[in-house]
Amino acid sequence: MPRGQLFLTTKLPPAGVGRELEALHQSLAALGTDYVDLWLIHHPQEDGAGLETWRRLIEVRDAGPARAIGVSNFSLERLDELARGSRVVPAVNQIRWNPFLFDRGVWKGHLARGIVLQGYTPFRRAYLDDPVLVEIAEGHGRSPAQVIVRWHLQHGVIVMPRSARRERIWANADVAGFELSGTEMGRLDARGGTYRGV
Ligand SMILES: NC(=O)c1ccc[n+]([C@@H]2O[C@H](COP(=O)([O-])OP(=O)(O)OC[C@H]3O[C@@H](n4cnc5c(N)ncnc54)[C@H](OP(=O)(O)O)[C@@H]3O)[C@@H](O)[C@H]2O)c1
Repeated sequence: MPRGQLFLTTKLPPAGVGRELEALHQSLAALGTDYVDLWLIHHPQEDGAGLETWRRLIEVRDAGPARAIGVSNFSLERLDELARGSRVVPAVNQIRWNPFLFDRGVWKGHLARGIVLQGYTPFRRAYLDDPVLVEIAEGHGRSPAQVIVRWHLQHGVIVMPRSARRERIWANADVAGFELSGTEMGRLDARGGTYRGV
């Protein structure tokens, strides 16, 4: 597959803070490429958002090996710290996300800031046997996992379903042929806040 048809994301691990360019070059070598499409700070630093780190990511992006830069596991307040301190808004914030973690304020907060919300653990921290989810899935003749993927897309959220099984990878991506109604979206949104795990 030509490189231009792939969208590659990598993260700056905590051990890469202070040596950002070197860490990115290590990732590029491991991936066998000379640029990534998206480079993320894995999580905020203990003493704040990590404005100095963010400024170094901006410099590296401007030099070319990272087409876009963003963050992961940032709150809206921490996102604002970065934007205020650098005048560069992260392109993406990758956070834990699924119907059971839905938070309208967080979702709208990303929209209002022009930051793309990228959800992780769409299934692992979800309840695939939740009665509301199962009822909606059965109504469409789809799996609960497919309904979760579709729910993300209809909210304009990037979803990152992972599977080691070929048939599930195909099925999880096969969601173009149905649409959740406004009522169904609302019922799924209303499951937000019911997640009780860690
Ligand atoms: N930024 C961060 O801090 C952070 C943290 C955690 C994860 N992530 C990223 O988020 C992505 C996904 O995370 P994840 O692996 O934690 O969670 P996930 O995609 O929610 O869950 C993966 C699990 O769900 C199962 N699964 C997949 N399709 C299924 C289906 N149709 N029905 C039932 N089960 C299904 C998989 O099993 P099988 O393999 O057996 O299908 C696997 O055990 C990864 O790319 C990961 O790197 C980011």
